[in-house]
Amino acid sequence: MQNLFITFLIIFFFTKPSFALGEGTPTGGWKPIPNVTDPTVVDIGKFAIDEHNKEAHKSLKFVKVVKGESQVVAGMNYNLTITAADGPEKNYVALVWDKPWEKFRQLVSFKGPV
Ligand SMILES: *[C@@H]1O[C@H](CO)[C@@H](O)[C@H](O)[C@H]1NC(C)=O
Ligand SMILES: *[C@@H]1O[C@H](CO)[C@@H](O)[C@H](O)[C@H]1NC(C)=O
Repeated sequence: MQNLFITFLIIFFFTKPSFALGEGTPTGGWKPIPNVTDPTVVDIGKFAIDEHNKEAHKSLKFVKVVKGESQVVAGMNYNLTITAADGPEKNYVALVWDKPWEKFRQLVSFKGPV
């Protein structure tokens, strides 16, 4: 009985902050990235191309990030339109999830050429 009560307390305290966070931070809102030559943005773009090359056994070469938007989540989501060359240059749209403090970065989706 005592243990059950403590379990509830623990669940309460661990779920509460995420509710507070959900209300306080505007998740779901995409904001345009003002400067696509920002080193972090370029890095994310290169990462997306590298990962796609590994997953799809391609050899695309990163050219530049054309445009992008970011979204605050647990970390940051980046939705980037990237120019890459596979012979001719084409545009691709990549979604990358980045949690810098955990050194975690994941290619969520990759589409293209668009
Ligand atoms: C964009 O970022 C790059 C690299 O940090 C910097 O050299 C450039 O001046 C910035 N451009 C603008 C318009 O802020
Ligand atoms: C990402 O950007 C592309 C191009 O602007 C857009 O078509 C697509 O809907 C965006 N994806 C998300 C998840 O917002």
